[in-house]
Amino acid sequence: MCGIVGYVGPRVATPLLIDGLKRLEYRGYDSAGVAVMNGKGVDTRRAPGKIVKLEAMLNAEPLVGTLGIAHTRWATHGAPTELNAHPHTSTDKSIAVVHNGIIENATALKARLEASGYVFTSETDTEVLAHLIQEMYTGKLEDAVIRALEHVEGTYGIAVICSKEPDKIVAARKGSPLLIGLGENEYFVASDASAILSYTREVVYLDDGDLAVLDRNGYKILDMSATQLDKAVSRIDWDLGQIERGGYAHFMLKEIFEQPTTIENTMRGRLLPEDGTSKLGGLNLTDEELLFFDNIVITACGTSWHSALIGEHMFEELARIPVEVEYASEFRYRNPIVDERTLCIVMSQSGETADTLAAMREAKRRGARTLGIVNQVGSTIAREADGGIYIHAGPEIGVASTKAFTSQVVALALLTLKVGRLRDLSIMNGRRIVEALQALPGQIQSILDRADEIEQLAEEFKRAQNFLYLGRGYNFPAALEGALKLKEISYIHAEGYPAAEMKHGPIALIDEMMPVVCIAPHDSVFDKIVSNVQEVKARKGKVIAITSQAEPSLVGKIDYEFRIPQTIEMLSPILASVPLQLLAYYIAVKRGSNVDQPRNLAKSVTVE
Ligand code: G6P
Repeated sequence: MCGIVGYVGPRVATPLLIDGLKRLEYRGYDSAGVAVMNGKGVDTRRAPGKIVKLEAMLNAEPLVGTLGIAHTRWATHGAPTELNAHPHTSTDKSIAVVHNGIIENATALKARLEASGYVFTSETDTEVLAHLIQEMYTGKLEDAVIRALEHVEGTYGIAVICSKEPDKIVAARKGSPLLIGLGENEYFVASDASAILSYTREVVYLDDGDLAVLDRNGYKILDMSATQLDKAVSRIDWDLGQIERGGYAHFMLKEIFEQPTTIENTMRGRLLPEDGTSKLGGLNLTDEELLFFDNIVITACGTSWHSALIGEHMFEELARIPVEVEYASEFRYRNPIVDERTLCIVMSQSGETADTLAAMREAKRRGARTLGIVNQVGSTIAREADGGIYIHAGPEIGVASTKAFTSQVVALALLTLKVGRLRDLSIMNGRRIVEALQALPGQIQSILDRADEIEQLAEEFKRAQNFLYLGRGYNFPAALEGALKLKEISYIHAEGYPAAEMKHGPIALIDEMMPVVCIAPHDSVFDKIVSNVQEVKARKGKVIAITSQAEPSLVGKIDYEFRIPQTIEMLSPILASVPLQLLAYYIAVKRGSNVDQPRNLAKSVTVE
């Protein structure tokens, strides 16, 4: 979602802040701003649009100082205008604030502050914080921030500076990620490690309720009663190269092409081929405890929800345990049947999605054991879950998730293998799954080697206005994911449907203008999907079939075919997804979309 970066140290702050913002731009990108202590007071520059616009403004009117805060915004309250961009300043201009999250009682606070003479200049909820902190200020910024936050309902990651204490940044967190970066005689605050990785690898992750004070001599972490806390320093173990494009036109393309490696990384050291099972060190569950659960609930949003649906099939088929998959945003406000015999699996690439985090906390409150399947190391879900599986896909920068999705499915397969072998699954079947998993990286590479075939297909269909994706069984979620990829980045309306369900509605849409992607690998439901293909063809739909071998029964019924390698049924959605990612990518590029930063979307949605 929005991004925060702050700096205090001996260097000129603005270039560091702008560099940090650029690394965060993938999270939110409708406007940006910087505030720096310029020797006289707080000086700000803000601009709607991309960070290059802010940069141009800064070139024309530079900001000089060695302490500052900056923000890239994804609008929630108020349009992306200069006035609504962060940082926001207090009425007396002494305080500047950048904020991620939502202040839920902003309207009431604003009315009270306005009645006391504070002057608002934006439509944002954030501005309330600046005036509130000014109101509470009696000489020590951290005390003012603590007192102000006592009046605030909602979520925040904030960084605050004050002209009366020009060498200090105060940061606080509740529900929106924030970390402190420790350099040599310099300190950073950021909402995401990628913003500061060029300068330091040593970080302290803030937890909800933590407040950090950074100045030129060091940092301290306090709780909301100003008691100092002792927090561990973590080391970031990924490289800058992983968050750079490395010769690819877009991050999304790079991430699609990384999948042979990322999948390998998800499995590394975790397969036990002899025993036909897996070893997952972070579960924090003994085999006895794993056998104790009566049911599994998987909760997630977006693409992670699609991988969860594949996991449901896997667990039910191979581990014979009932599974329910639920959107986190729905789960958190229902009265779900979850107790201490429930294993709640929480899927999240970022580990920060607000709804998913809230769903996990709700499941915990009801006594369930929680397991995070997360990519971002040190993220809130990873830290709060009882145990977990890191997918180790490396930083995913493209907003449309690709490599995280395939690695999530692999992680679910590893867990299924583990639970399955403890329950019903024979050693022979376990070994078969291990072998199929080991073959995946090479099989994905063989698909990527034929990316040009998909590019040609994209040329053919780039002007389509609608797309339908059909799949059955394990590949119904792959159809949903294929459709989501296309709509996210090309803005073409696309729907994923269980192939047989098509005749109960979507069939009405089919005519010669409608491309229909049918995911039809050679599996237990192949013959069934052939009938569905026929139904499409009879209505003159254009069929693009994803198959896994020569299929006499499809001859004459399909318009285009792309073959993926044959694998076992449970892993086929992984292979089927790769050409669908490429199709979405190439169509979007040919339509001139901004693939890595599609309109209105954000990489990590840290608000409800
Ligand atoms: C956003 C992103 C999606 C992502 C979803 C869930 O909507 O644009 O790509 O799938 O959030 O994110 P998570 O980090 O929890 O997997």
